Amino acid sequence: MVLLPKSKYLDFLSQFGVGGAHPGGINLTKEIFRSENISNTSHLLDVGCGTGQTAAYLASSYGTNVTGIDINSIMVAKAKKRMKKNNLPVKIIHGSIEQTLLPDHKFDFIISESVLSFVNKPKALKEIFRLLKDGGRFIAIEFTIKRPLEAKIEQEIKQFYGFDSFSMKKDWITLFKHAGFKNIRIQKNKSISSVPEYHYSKEIEPELYELMEKHYDMNLKYEDVLDYRVYSCTK
Ligand SMILES: C[S@@+](CC[C@H](N)C(=O)[O-])C[C@H]1O[C@@H](n2cnc3c(N)ncnc32)[C@H](O)[C@@H]1O
Repeated sequence: MVLLPKSKYLDFLSQFGVGGAHPGGINLTKEIFRSENISNTSHLLDVGCGTGQTAAYLASSYGTNVTGIDINSIMVAKAKKRMKKNNLPVKIIHGSIEQTLLPDHKFDFIISESVLSFVNKPKALKEIFRLLKDGGRFIAIEFTIKRPLEAKIEQEIKQFYGFDSFSMKKDWITLFKHAGFKNIRIQKNKSISSVPEYHYSKEIEPELYELMEKHYDMNLKYEDVLDYRVYSCTK
């Protein structure tokens, strides 16, 4: 068996402290939540919250009760620092969305922004479903491939980003339905963009600079296959 090197993409994102590391960035997030019914009594979970840009935005703009969870300890430290600096009562948890210690039916809204490709999707969606209140909403901005990929290309992208799997639109719908979600809606890629934020670590592994360049090359090389969609569904 050939052992492939572990992807360092999430190390790059965390050490560079990239905020808004999802297609459309914070501007797409803002646009999506404009049409959701959030109030200051809502409870919201940001899955794979990264440096906490979205969690902080939702807490400060809507006065809502926000929790963020992320598996990467550097991301968690940067998100906690952001909340402290801005005096925001956002709870940041270090852990995996595949299995959490959070109670059933806790949240009115759960959001995942470019997270589910990195995880075991059925496991994570089962957990997200468990955590949502009845009638709660799940919103996901996630990579969606336009067509099945050639094995070699699939391997190259998976290995570089550390993705667990790729899904086309129809695969996402099947995954949501299997988890129990209903009223599944899909919005097309809206060509909204934002400039990402950076919160650099004091020391950054030199190879991560090369990785950043490779990431931009990969984006260009595979822009015709690596698309995204905004999914929303109800428990
Ligand atoms: C592409 S980044 C997106 C971060 C953030 N949502 C944003 O838009 O800026 C993916 C994030 O998912 C987190 N992640 C990956 N696997 C996870 C898991 N099993 N549970 C929770 N977070 C995870 C990574 O650590 C990383 O912060």
